[in-house]
Amino acid sequence: MDKIDLNSIKHVLLLGATGGIGQAIMNHLLDQNSSLVIHALTRSPVEHPRVHNAVADVINESGLTEFMSSFPSVKFEMIINTVGYLENELGGPEKSLRDISEEKLIEYFRANAVLTPVLAKVVRNHLSDDGFVFVALSAMVGSIGENELGGWYGYRASKAALNAFIKNIAIEWRRSHKKSLVLAIHPGTTHTSLSEKFSTNVTHKIHSPSESAANICNVIFGATFAQSGSFLNWDGRVIQW
Ligand SMILES: NC(=O)c1ccc[n+]([C@@H]2O[C@H](COP(=O)([O-])OP(=O)(O)OC[C@H]3O[C@@H](n4cnc5c(N)ncnc54)[C@H](OP(=O)(O)O)[C@@H]3O)[C@@H](O)[C@H]2O)c1
Repeated sequence: MDKIDLNSIKHVLLLGATGGIGQAIMNHLLDQNSSLVIHALTRSPVEHPRVHNAVADVINESGLTEFMSSFPSVKFEMIINTVGYLENELGGPEKSLRDISEEKLIEYFRANAVLTPVLAKVVRNHLSDDGFVFVALSAMVGSIGENELGGWYGYRASKAALNAFIKNIAIEWRRSHKKSLVLAIHPGTTHTSLSEKFSTNVTHKIHSPSESAANICNVIFGATFAQSGSFLNWDGRVIQW
């Protein structure tokens, strides 16, 4: 096989299982494969008989390492990070340079970018030898090549940094793991708490979380190992870095 088969997946590591898209991906995977188990580290509990859940600070290397040590022999065929934010108590996206705050920029990078390479580091002994997919949800606005509107400094740049991390992880794992598929995926605008406030002037289609989960899974299970290190749109189109 030159790609990951959803039916052969036994263990999934999911970050962001309480989010709009993360929860929909969790439900989609559990529905589509009745034997897979999901391991989820979250800030608030997730209840499901096939979800092994621990509650801790997600964006924390020691917390992630401790979580991983609770199932030392588990190998993942799928690792997916859906954690991300656009607005929090520090404020929302910057309209211009006058809105820049050093503290906010660092927080954008911490949650939207830094978590992914840390996750790749801590999961390295849990990668299935039969092949695995490692995905981070990025955003179209993280494309430097397709940036025509400006603004949103912290969110854009942190997603661009995430994309750079994804490319680097793909290159490293291509050498050590022949059957690795490392992807940054733009889920498409999706009705969630993240997008709610920013969707009023959107002219293109806004997807429901379950539509986006299905789209994301179609992209993941349609992609070949040769595509590792790509930034893909929800419909499978390659997005410029
Ligand atoms: N919705 C869209 O239109 C859209 C478009 C492009 C890209 N995306 C990307 O898709 C991903 C999922 O977004 P979503 O729409 O599902 O958003 P969401 O409903 O707000 O979910 C975001 C998830 O990230 C977690 N999270 C955020 N900040 C965190 C922090 N500081 N520490 C730990 N966990 C944190 C949340 O955890 P809690 O539940 O504990 O808060 C939640 O699980 C994000 O990476 C986002 O950038 C979304």
